[in-house]
Amino acid sequence: MTTNRILVIIASSALLCFSAKGFSEESSQPNKEVIAILGTGDMGDSFGPQLAKLGYKIIYGSRNPESERVAALVEKTGNGASAMTSDMAGRNADIVFLAIPWEPMEQIIKSLGDMEGKTIIDLSWPASKLADDGYYQMTTKPSGAEVIQGWIPKAMVAKAFGTTGTNVIDDPNDAGGLVTIPIASDHREAKEITARIAAELGFDPVDAGPLRMARNIEAMMELYMVPHIQGRNTGWEFYFRRTNYWMCNRYSGSEDVDGGLSEADLANLAEMPKTHGAPEPC
Ligand SMILES: NC(=O)c1ccc[n+]([C@@H]2O[C@H](COP(=O)([O-])OP(=O)(O)OC[C@H]3O[C@@H](n4cnc5c(N)ncnc54)[C@H](OP(=O)(O)O)[C@@H]3O)[C@@H](O)[C@H]2O)c1
Repeated sequence: MTTNRILVIIASSALLCFSAKGFSEESSQPNKEVIAILGTGDMGDSFGPQLAKLGYKIIYGSRNPESERVAALVEKTGNGASAMTSDMAGRNADIVFLAIPWEPMEQIIKSLGDMEGKTIIDLSWPASKLADDGYYQMTTKPSGAEVIQGWIPKAMVAKAFGTTGTNVIDDPNDAGGLVTIPIASDHREAKEITARIAAELGFDPVDAGPLRMARNIEAMMELYMVPHIQGRNTGWEFYFRRTNYWMCNRYSGSEDVDGGLSEADLANLAEMPKTHGAPEPC
């Protein structure tokens, strides 16, 4: 790792200074964006009510927006929630959550129009199958999120939340501690919007770099499934534990540590919410 890259990591860590709860209290806004949640399954029916509680107006995108099940979800969600077909939900929202399986993804994305300037939060698990050794193996290349960005190049796709189970979306304390939400996007604004929402929900957003890092996030999703594949009655949630080491041991100048990497992505470096307490003195 080069000096500059380390400094970039340090700079983004340094911005995390207060608790997630504190951020959520500070950030209540009178005019929050309209969020479309495409899919009304496990993920959709967890995110919708939680986001509505935070003041976002929710529009569910569903194959059957008139069904009793979806009507009950709309009622439970409250705060002016509604349901419509996915294409209409997406067109009427500022931010879109993709809470759908991979199979209908292309058809649903292409029905949305160009979505210019809108933030699309992809929490899906892309095409995956069981390999010969019995574990999941990704079949989408390079990553699901990059494929989606290619279908809607004018939108701002961010990969996030896929590494988190719905039990933890419903109750972030269910994991017994702060849960990390790595966020990858080629659009700084999309990362900052996603990070703000993650912090409001009680999570620890982490700037995971450009959208190509979605390959690693999607690989984490594969890892998440390992205990289930093994039949263990257990699971895990991801948390990158904060360390003060890099705060207190800065590299200086342009010392080249690993030969060849140069400073990168500064224009895309998101300002992250202050989800941690003040750093301990060195
Ligand atoms: N559940 C988790 O804990 C978890 C964790 C991480 C990531 N994910 C990912 O998040 C995405 C959503 O997961 P989920 O657990 O919410 O899935 P789910 O319970 O199966 O719900 C998916 C929803 O997508 C909609 N949908 C649209 N077209 C569909 C189609 N052709 N076939 C099936 N459903 C269709 C359905 O809503 P309508 O019937 O209203 O159209 C359905 O309820 C997936 O990509 C999943 O891999 C899930």
